[in-house]
Amino acid sequence: MKAILAGSALAALILAGPAWAFPDKPITIIVPAAAGGPSDTVARLVAQSMGDTLGQQVLVENLGGAGGSLGAGQAARAAPDGYTLLLYHVGVATFSALYPQLPYEPTSDFSSVGLITEVPMAIVGRKDLPAADIAGLIEALRGGEALSFGTAGVGAVSDLCGMLLSDALGAEMVVVPYKGTGPAMTDLMGGQIDLMCDQTTNTANQIESGEVKPYAVTTRTRIDRFPDLPTVAESGLDGFEITAWHALWAPAGTPDDIRHRLAEALRTALHDATVKERFAALGTVPVTDEAATPEALDTHFRSEVERWTRLIGSLETPAQ
Ligand code: MLT
Repeated sequence: MKAILAGSALAALILAGPAWAFPDKPITIIVPAAAGGPSDTVARLVAQSMGDTLGQQVLVENLGGAGGSLGAGQAARAAPDGYTLLLYHVGVATFSALYPQLPYEPTSDFSSVGLITEVPMAIVGRKDLPAADIAGLIEALRGGEALSFGTAGVGAVSDLCGMLLSDALGAEMVVVPYKGTGPAMTDLMGGQIDLMCDQTTNTANQIESGEVKPYAVTTRTRIDRFPDLPTVAESGLDGFEITAWHALWAPAGTPDDIRHRLAEALRTALHDATVKERFAALGTVPVTDEAATPEALDTHFRSEVERWTRLIGSLETPAQ
């Protein structure tokens, strides 16, 4: 076993080249969701700044499908040399519980770079949906109204929110999966679907411009960005809460010094005035320097896998 580990560590070192020379070519961040959605927005903002710090282009590649589990798999199988990374969210902590046949194991096939941000979510409807407020929406769903609900597929955080909502209400929604909530939002604004629960990075502008009808936020308390919007919990679903933390991972076996260089560039990005300003406009803030580290993500990820595995196991109908 020791010989195998030594062998794979050596292979990673050879693949990556000397750490002092890293990076000597562009880096690709895989976002396992469509362009224009919330994960893509976060990735493009930090990629730009990380590229400036590292002196190399940091490109974003969108590989949406199956809640993000397909693109994440591609990142897990990439060479562990620091040139292919994964940026996604809490969904990664749910894949093993939701996909029994998953061909990789998130807890052992990725190595952490760092946490990025924790984004509130909002339940929004097409602008002509009859329910006037969250109480009316809950009543319609409990009354058996078959509303269509756009998601980015099983394991996407939009889907996890719908799963928790259906479970809390004992009501079913007609789930319409997309490759990301960017395209789902286009359909919601066009009136092709009724409802979504998505991150403020993909709902704040649309709420503000009146293109969607806001119902509630999914955080424990109201958020500064929309102080008049009630929480789901205060609207009768006591304890209801879901947010989307985002993180950056590398394939398992990526040398530690390379991961730490990437984490350093990530922390610099999280202090970048443009990144902070855009995050604030979209209802979120960067994590602290302590959280944007491999060690903090390791600890957080392990506890989130445990929490979600338990939670999903306790639901009546987990996968939508
Ligand atoms: C999600 O629902 O998990 C995300 O919104 C996916 C995306 O970034 O499009």
